[in-house]
Amino acid sequence: MKVFNEYLEIVNNAIATLKLPGQPAGLYDPIRYTMDAGGKRLRPVLALAACEAMGKDPMTAIHQAIAIEMFHNFTLLHDDVMDNADVRRGRPTVHKKWNEETAILSGDAMLTTSTMLLAIKAGDHLASALDLFNGTAMNIYEGQQLDMDFEQRLDVTVEEYMEMIRLKTSVLLGCACGMGALMADAPFETQLQFFNYGVNLGLAFQLQDDFLDTYGNPETFGKAIGGDILNDKKTWLLIMALKEDQTGKLREIIGSNINAEEKISTVREIYNTLNLPDRIHELIRAYIDTAISCLDTIELMPEARAFFIDLALKSATRDK
Ligand code: IPE
Ligand code: IPE
Ligand code: MG
Ligand code: MG
Ligand code: MG
Repeated sequence: MKVFNEYLEIVNNAIATLKLPGQPAGLYDPIRYTMDAGGKRLRPVLALAACEAMGKDPMTAIHQAIAIEMFHNFTLLHDDVMDNADVRRGRPTVHKKWNEETAILSGDAMLTTSTMLLAIKAGDHLASALDLFNGTAMNIYEGQQLDMDFEQRLDVTVEEYMEMIRLKTSVLLGCACGMGALMADAPFETQLQFFNYGVNLGLAFQLQDDFLDTYGNPETFGKAIGGDILNDKKTWLLIMALKEDQTGKLREIIGSNINAEEKISTVREIYNTLNLPDRIHELIRAYIDTAISCLDTIELMPEARAFFIDLALKSATRDK
């Protein structure tokens, strides 16, 4: 096994050598702009590490790992339009730097490029890889639709929220882990166990993303703070606060058109009063523990087990 940064380097090298056409620049420049902007590369690293943990050269899964990262980046282009987000990875989002038409079409091209990459050297695993990938993609669209539907509702439950983030975020981390195991010829049962590890990691990952959207440092996080509050996103924080705020203040603010800064700081104050920052971290820790317990069901070398445990623990306290 390698350390995270070694897998990261493999991923970055593979992305740097991707051969995208030059023309039309309006289509391909935004793709290069997005793919070159870094990001944590968590999903492709998971795919390569799962492949190596199952005893194969991680390069066996490199095209499928990059396919998943390309797909992830495609979802971000469209998500930033849907969420009206101006900044990502510390830079203007594609729809801000160019326009919404560009974010839609370059996003479409990224989606197709990702399926082309997925097929490269997939060999006997092509049908299974496509099944896993396309099933995951449909889940993500379903989750994104629920995320938008929930903006209009005040009665979203924690159960509904957990299902929404399982779909929009967690299954892609599960897919990355499962894909790595698939490419390494691991038995289906093992692929599934890796998938489950990734899903639980993904639930913790999205909870932490929601926490950082309110409490993060924009310089480190690379995104604007308070977007979820301004969009009335039904995050775990907001759902709990709606349930527990006795003052009636929160319901008054949601849907009102008070000044953005004031809305963010007032909602954050309500979260603080209810001790929600500590409480969300207890929940995150519980999902990390579940992810780690999924590893018990996989036959892993101690080194591989340590890699996935370490990655899970670090995700729970990440600040970017
Ligand atoms: C952003 O994913 C979308 C979510 C699922 C929260 P990441 O936080 O992995 O984004 P990058 O790729 O590192 O920028
Ligand atoms: C991420 O949800 C889900 C997808 C992109 C599919 P968010 O909307 O919370 O992601 P960020 O915070 O914009 O990265
Ligand atoms: Mg979103
Ligand atoms: Mg968003
Ligand atoms: Mg977010």
